[in-house]
Amino acid sequence: MIIAVDGPAASGKGTLARRIAVHFQYAYLDTGKIYRAVGYRVLTDGGDPQDVDAALQAAQALDPSTLDSPELTGDVAAVAASKVAALEPVRAALLDFQKRFAASPPKGAKGAVLDGRDIGTVVCPDADVKLFVTADVEERARRRHKELLDKGEPSIYPRVLQALKDRDARDSSRSAAPLKAAADAIVIDTTAMDPDEAFATALDFIQQRTG
Ligand code: C5P
Repeated sequence: MIIAVDGPAASGKGTLARRIAVHFQYAYLDTGKIYRAVGYRVLTDGGDPQDVDAALQAAQALDPSTLDSPELTGDVAAVAASKVAALEPVRAALLDFQKRFAASPPKGAKGAVLDGRDIGTVVCPDADVKLFVTADVEERARRRHKELLDKGEPSIYPRVLQALKDRDARDSSRSAAPLKAAADAIVIDTTAMDPDEAFATALDFIQQRTG
C-alpha cells in the first residue's frame, strides 16, 4: 500500500502524513528532508545551491541516516532545498531512493506514506491513494509564524508570508516535477480545518479508495 501526500509548505501535509503512517503502521518518508539535506550540504561546502554540479555531487553523496539532523528543519535549509529541487539532474539522482522506499518499506512495514511535492505525479504515479493537502498562503504563514514563536525563535509575519510565497512560486513554476495535484488526487483544503478534521477527511478517503 502506497499513500502519496503532496502539497505546499506549511499546509499540514507532514503532520497528516505522519499520523496516517502511525495509524496504519506504515513506514513514513518526508521527502522534503532529502532535498533539504542536499541543499544544506551544498551550503556547508561553501557552494551555491543553484550550481548543478555542486548540487548533483551532494545528491549523489546523500546519507539517509542524516535526515533527522535538526539543522534541516530551518528556513535556511528550506530555501536551499527549493533551489536544488529545481535542478532536473538532482531530482533524477534522488528518485531511486524514494522509489525503493515506497516499493520495499523498511522494517517489513506493509505500506509506505511519502510526503512531498511530486509523490503522486512522479515518484509513485501508481500510488493506491493520493492526497493533495493545501491551505491559503496567509493561513500557512500564520501557522509557520506561530510554530517559530512557540519554539522561541524570532519571527516576523510579513517575512514568513513572503518567504512562503517565494518558495511556492519556485516550486510551482519550475519545469522539473512542479508542485501540482495529480489528476486522481483528492484535494484536502486545511485552511479552516484542525489536524483532527484533516485526519478524519483523509481516513474517509483512504477507506473509500481501498475498501
Ligand atoms: O516539504 P519541505 O518544505 O521540507 O520541502 C522543502 C523543499 O524541497 C520544497 O520547497 C521543494 O522545493 C522541495 N521538494 C521537492 N519535492 C519533494 C519534496 C520537497 O521539490 N518531493
